[in-house]
Amino acid sequence: MNYGIAWGAVVAFLVGYFIVRRRCSIKHIRGPPSSSPFIGNLLQLRLPRSYGDHEFKWLKTYGPVYRLRGCFGENRLMVSDLLACQYILKSQHFTMETSWESEVRFKRILCHRVDDCIGEIHHRLRKNFNMAFTAVAVRRYGPVFQKVAQAITHKLELSDRASIDIVPPLTVATMTAIAEAALGYSMDELGEEYVAATTEILAVSSIQTAGHILTDAIGVYLPKWLLRAAMRLPTKTFKAARKTIRLARQIGAQVVREKQDLVQQGNSSLRLRLSWLRVSNIQSNSHTRFLTLVLFAGQETTTKTIALGLWELAKDPKFQEMLRAEIHSSLGEAGHRNGTYDEMPLLNAFIKETLRFYPAEAFTERIVVHDTVIPLSESITTSTGEQMSQIPVTKGQIVIVGIASYQRLESRWGADADKFRPSRWLDGSILNPDPVGPYANLLTFLSGPHTCLGWRFAILEMQAVICELVGKFAFAVPENDSVRVCMANTLQPVLSSGERGVLLRVTRIG
Ligand code: HEM
Repeated sequence: MNYGIAWGAVVAFLVGYFIVRRRCSIKHIRGPPSSSPFIGNLLQLRLPRSYGDHEFKWLKTYGPVYRLRGCFGENRLMVSDLLACQYILKSQHFTMETSWESEVRFKRILCHRVDDCIGEIHHRLRKNFNMAFTAVAVRRYGPVFQKVAQAITHKLELSDRASIDIVPPLTVATMTAIAEAALGYSMDELGEEYVAATTEILAVSSIQTAGHILTDAIGVYLPKWLLRAAMRLPTKTFKAARKTIRLARQIGAQVVREKQDLVQQGNSSLRLRLSWLRVSNIQSNSHTRFLTLVLFAGQETTTKTIALGLWELAKDPKFQEMLRAEIHSSLGEAGHRNGTYDEMPLLNAFIKETLRFYPAEAFTERIVVHDTVIPLSESITTSTGEQMSQIPVTKGQIVIVGIASYQRLESRWGADADKFRPSRWLDGSILNPDPVGPYANLLTFLSGPHTCLGWRFAILEMQAVICELVGKFAFAVPENDSVRVCMANTLQPVLSSGERGVLLRVTRIG
């Protein structure tokens, strides 16, 4: 007898029974029909063949607020209405999703404890780490970004292949940037083990299957002690999770220990750069865990965003040529003349459009902790014909903030919101330009207490890398390959072979 299956069946039955019987305040909100009694619409939302396959159709059919089915007929609210998103992300009536799936695959791996991600501990950690990510601090990292960008040039120049997968050199660049700029480590100092461990952690955390989704849906209603017990089960996912937790803790602790020693030995430039390593906090385990989160949060997101941007650029030679001309006239052909990236309109329009079209995290989930009412910018009509200008939600309700959906709203971005068009940022076609997230009215870096800590870091890094690469190379799409964007926690470009990556024909200019 397979006890795992029997155990799973009992839990699934009890949870299913419990969920179906829950009272629900959103059941009359219109939404797509469930595609499976067990998993509802979650496979369509989280594992479509291409990112947005279903989501963007639902957005057109039902508008920016609709109901989705989770597992066993549970109702989830999908929201891309601006007022509602702002309320959910900023209000204390919601907390980070505390499902098993995110516990195991995100917070347990990276932060280890959800407590670190919410409330007072989170607030203190952010305050400390913010020092390394202020506008002034990030400006100082400029030379590091230029150096890592030049290292990519060097790699591309050495390659004799007709087409190059741009993701691996970008991965090394983003990893080096965080290590050197924020932690004061060179890649040599970090060593091969660190690089291998990081790659493994990112690989594990970017695998998503129907099993993960089901575990997530069931686990959200179960006590946390059961999760801790389940973590000891010899399954593939839990084994991988255990390994990554161990490695992540090891790396975080090692960085903190070694830096503490250097700072205490009087290394003043490090002391300035690593001002977040305040002695009173160094002992704190939460501190080490949050450091680990910083180490990982900025790598894959930035890498995949730049790679997908270069893919779009390769498809549009005319815009690419114009961007290159702007780079050469602002920074010189070698890309070193002192210019300010922020004064380059095409460069910034291109970065904003890339972030709008490809938000690394396409949606985020929150759970209601106290009954509340979500305000809407525009009222909706329910399946019973009722008009609603606000939606009451009760404790335990899961809501999904549709970051990608918000960024495809025609009411905000224009009738061609589904098209990649950087010039929309220059020709006044963006509607309602009131501020939303920290950057360019986008939700890509979120909003509220969990706004991306490294958004300024990411923008400057993208500016430096794009100027270096587009200034020195012409990018074209290979004849026999194409890129599909799928989802696995973050957006992932996939080649026609099924492997992850972005193949480009790269030609040195001049
Ligand atoms: C294009 C690049 C990036 C994108 C699109 C991005 C996006 C995001 C998003 C959406 C969140 C919120 C997650 C949630 O609550 O559901 C987040 C959080 C975070 N990001 Fe980024 N990020 C990027 C780059 C970076 C970089 C370069 C760093 C650090 C060097 C970084 C560090 C963090 C940290 C520490 C958090 C957790 C913040 C908290 O919970 O308080 N990110 N990011």
